[in-house]
This record gives sequence, C-alpha cells and structure tokens, in this order.
Amino acid sequence: MFPLIAENLVVEFNGKHILGPIDLTVNKGDISLILGPNGSGKTTLLKSLHGIMKLKRGSIKWSCSNNSSMKKQMFVFQTPIMLRRSVFENLTYPLLLRKVSNSKAHRLATEWVEKIGLKEIMHISATRLSGGEKQKLALARALIIEPEMLFLDEPSASLDGKTTVEIENLLKSCTKNGTTIMMSTHDIGQAKRLAKNILFLNKGILESNQLTETFFLEPTSPNAQKFITGEIVE
Ligand SMILES: Nc1ncnc2c1ncn2[C@@H]1O[C@H](COP(=O)(O)OP(=O)(O)O)[C@@H](O)[C@H]1O
Ligand SMILES: [Mg+2]
Repeated sequence: MFPLIAENLVVEFNGKHILGPIDLTVNKGDISLILGPNGSGKTTLLKSLHGIMKLKRGSIKWSCSNNSSMKKQMFVFQTPIMLRRSVFENLTYPLLLRKVSNSKAHRLATEWVEKIGLKEIMHISATRLSGGEKQKLALARALIIEPEMLFLDEPSASLDGKTTVEIENLLKSCTKNGTTIMMSTHDIGQAKRLAKNILFLNKGILESNQLTETFFLEPTSPNAQKFITGEIVE
C-alpha cells in the first residue's frame, strides 16, 4: 500500500485558498506529526491524505487500489463520534463490518476494553463516557482492526496528563507493530516524544518537513523557529 504520494495538493473552500500546493510522500513506518498555528490547515491536510476532502488540484495516490487502501486506514477525529451502543459494541463494530467472525470480534474487544481501562463500564452506552474515555475508545476502535495507516487529529487536545500518556503509550505500541502514523498536535512536547519527523504548516503551506531532531535544532522555516520558541507566528 505504501508509499502514499501526494502531488501538487491544493484545497479551496468557497473559492478561498486553504491548503497547498503540497508535495508529500508517506513511507511505511513513518511517524509524522503536523505542527502549526490554529487554522494553518492541519485538519484539512489530514483529511485530504485520508481521501475524504475534495481537492481543487493535485492527487493522492496509494500504491494499491483506493478500495483496498480505504480498508487499511483509519481516522480518529478530534471530537470522536460514538455509536449509540455500548462501549463493547463500539469495539466489535469495525470488526464485524470487516466480516471478522463473531467469536474473534468478541475476543479482541475483550482484550481492548481491558487495555483502555473501560472493562468495568463496557456495557454502558458509549455516549455517556467522559471526553478522555471517548478519545481512548475512539483510538482503540481504530487500532482494533490493526490498520496499516492511522490518521489522528489532535487526539489529546483538552485531555489531562494521565489520559495523554495512556494515549501516547497505545500509539507507541502500535508503531512497534508497524503501523504508520500521521497526526496533528498543538503540543510541542508530544511532537518531541512521538515523532520521527515533523511537518510544519503555516497558512496552508508546508514550510518544513524534517527529522524531529533536526527540526528542533535547525528548523528550515523562520516561522517554525518562532513557533518552537513560543512566539506568535503571523
Ligand atoms: N468547512 C469549511 N469551510 C470553510 N472554511 C473552512 C472549513 N474548514 C476549515 N476551514 C478553514 O480552513 C483553514 C484551515 O482549517 P483547518 O484545516 O481546520 O486548520 P487547523 O486544523 O490547522 O486548525 C481555516 O482558515 C479554516 O477557517
Ligand atoms: Mg484542526
């Protein structure tokens, strides 16, 4: 399925330029974090790469058919949408959708509900969970199918430190199994902890695309330098 190659990607909303042109390659095993000010286009870039955004120009190509790439990638939205079903059924759902047997779906959901610490409340409606619990469930629901590519849009925005660590640990363990990750964050510390490479977006332009160590030592973009040191980027 890899690499994913984006060429000359441009997105507009109602005639207003939002993103691009961007050229980008995603290779298997990449852990890329997107940094950038509010409104710089992080969410738009993630959705474009996932294939759920109408492009004005350019192309996104996986090295396999669109149909099979869609089955192997998952997207965790910033505000997760829970099925109006139990926590447990939220976990079995993506498996049953993929024709996994009932018994296997049951076994995997039992493992995952334990891993995310929701075993005690696995029979309550997922809509009743707290923000942090919903975010963990959304991540588990994505990881349970062992996706080859995982997109995450600020998965720990507005979460406390403990839940953030739990989410980061889940992400670290799935990268060990070879999952490729592209994720936006507003949290510079999180980018340092997780990323192999950093994409810095500003006003829809990909101003830097560097290995994490190099990015924090010598960012190629002056705006990235400002962003790292906490100055306002205009
Ligand atoms: N559905 C939409 N219609 C019009 N403008 C939008 C829409 N979604 C996002 N935008 C605009 O696109 C720009 C980039 O947004 P977004 O990708 O959400 O940035 P970020 O995730 O970095 O905060 C912003 O100026 C935002 O206002
Ligand atoms: Mg966003």
